[in-house]
Amino acid sequence: MKKKILVTCALPYANGPIHIGHLLEHIQADIFVRYQKMKKNDVWFICADDAHGTAIMLKAQEKNISEEFLIKTVLEDHKKDFYNFDISHDIYHSTHSKENLRFVLKVFDILKTKKMISEKFVNQFFDESSKMFLPDRYINGTCPVCNSSSEFGDSCTSCGSFYSVLELINPISVVSGNVPILKRTLQVFFNISLFENKIKKMLLSNVLEKDVSKKVVEWFEIGLRDWNISRDYPYFGFKIPGYKKKYFYVWLDAPIGYISTFKKLCSERNINFNEFWDENSNTKLYHFIGKDIIYFHSIFWPAILNAISFRKPTKIYVHGYVKINDRKMSKSTKHLITAKNWYKNFDSDSLRYYYASKISNNIEDININAKDFVNSINSGLVNKIINLATRNASFINKYFHGMLYKKASNILEYRNFLNKFNKINLFFKNMKYRDVISEILKISNFANSYINDKAPWRFIQYKNMNYVQDVCSTGINFFRIIMTYMKPILPKLSNRVEYFLNSKLDFKNLAQPLFDHKINNVKFLYKRVKIKDFYKLI
Ligand code: MSP
Ligand code: ZN
Repeated sequence: MKKKILVTCALPYANGPIHIGHLLEHIQADIFVRYQKMKKNDVWFICADDAHGTAIMLKAQEKNISEEFLIKTVLEDHKKDFYNFDISHDIYHSTHSKENLRFVLKVFDILKTKKMISEKFVNQFFDESSKMFLPDRYINGTCPVCNSSSEFGDSCTSCGSFYSVLELINPISVVSGNVPILKRTLQVFFNISLFENKIKKMLLSNVLEKDVSKKVVEWFEIGLRDWNISRDYPYFGFKIPGYKKKYFYVWLDAPIGYISTFKKLCSERNINFNEFWDENSNTKLYHFIGKDIIYFHSIFWPAILNAISFRKPTKIYVHGYVKINDRKMSKSTKHLITAKNWYKNFDSDSLRYYYASKISNNIEDININAKDFVNSINSGLVNKIINLATRNASFINKYFHGMLYKKASNILEYRNFLNKFNKINLFFKNMKYRDVISEILKISNFANSYINDKAPWRFIQYKNMNYVQDVCSTGINFFRIIMTYMKPILPKLSNRVEYFLNSKLDFKNLAQPLFDHKINNVKFLYKRVKIKDFYKLI
């Protein structure tokens, strides 16, 4: 039966360009989406910009433009980048939208009616020169655990501890460089502890992979604290009705962006919204996120969904961080590769292939470097996979006007070869693309050895042309199967291959090999990459 699937990626902040860290997530999800579509399931893939919060407000101030103008230009820019990398979002919206405002107000209304909201006075750091309350990330200081200086307000990059910003030693405002004062302020809390048991039950039922659920269990041991969902003026976001100068915290309206973005898609494409979000929905909901936002997606987000009686996620796939030369990416030190910079120097399929060769269903970080990348593309993709096509096509074009052999003479060998791919389906479903690639390379080795053993080139001098055509056609058919399985990973190359084979790459076409069929002569399928181009990136 056809499955109905909704896929989301975390919503990138609208305060900077898309970089290859974001792309890891979108490529991982896109491969999943394309694979599910090839399996004829109904899939919707949605994303949006996360357009609210202090970072966006400060960025607009820094550029001397309005927040609205900033998020509008960034949105266009993000869309272009994702398009260039063939990320097949069905919609890419924004959390600063009328659809999102509507849902946020609705959620708040329900929370109030169900008495899940409370007010409390709290002390927060306030920057007197900038006249603003400071989010934890905008306070630096000395770690109370290891004494390392210049650490974040809420966590330490040296020892990895999490702490309350009030414990930080010698706090300094990142915005002004001044020492902030503590100021009392009324805040609005969502009593998420009401859902502690429900959330725990949900998370322990296979929604998370094992290494992630272990972490989450630790949070439950500490117990869930009520969640402050309000922020004081100045802030860029949605105003909280009934309060003066208070805004919804960006992390409240951001995940609601999943719902509102999908709602917009539903109105554009005539999709049944309730079928996907009803509490008892039979459809699937998959979230792809990075390891830094597990708490938001495994605690806060399910709390919201519980409160409004919406369905829960089927799976939350968590990935690790992209590192370059074993170092974390960072905007401030410019140790970062933007999507644009990659696209200027390499094609998008090269990054998709390279990431695929590293992605598995765990939260390990993914390290990339020049040598490893060049080796992956040139020795793997080009030498093993593309070479299988070009060496056989050269004979088919030169001696047979591009015609494949008149019959499928060795159908048994063909079937045996096809059977080698069975376990790859499971790898795709479980997000183990690393195993997809290594299995495909093994199979490509087999196919190349098959051709080597048959050595069709030796038979040309004996004018045994049927043999030559037959063997080379088998080689092309092997390549066709390999590329059908690579299609979710390599959309641009797949387009060229479909022209080359003069046939669509589709699982259902694979039952029969191509024979008595004209293929096209193409100049190139894939270019080798050069190491010097990688050094231009960073
Ligand atoms: N706006 C929030 C998400 C809201 S979802 C309701 C956010 N935005 S982000 O732009 O900082 O990150 C978006 C996604 O990209 C997150 O899943 C994050 O983990 C991921 N990545 C950001 N930098 C990354 C790397 N260097 N490597 C891999 N993924 C990274 O968080
Ligand atoms: Zn520390």
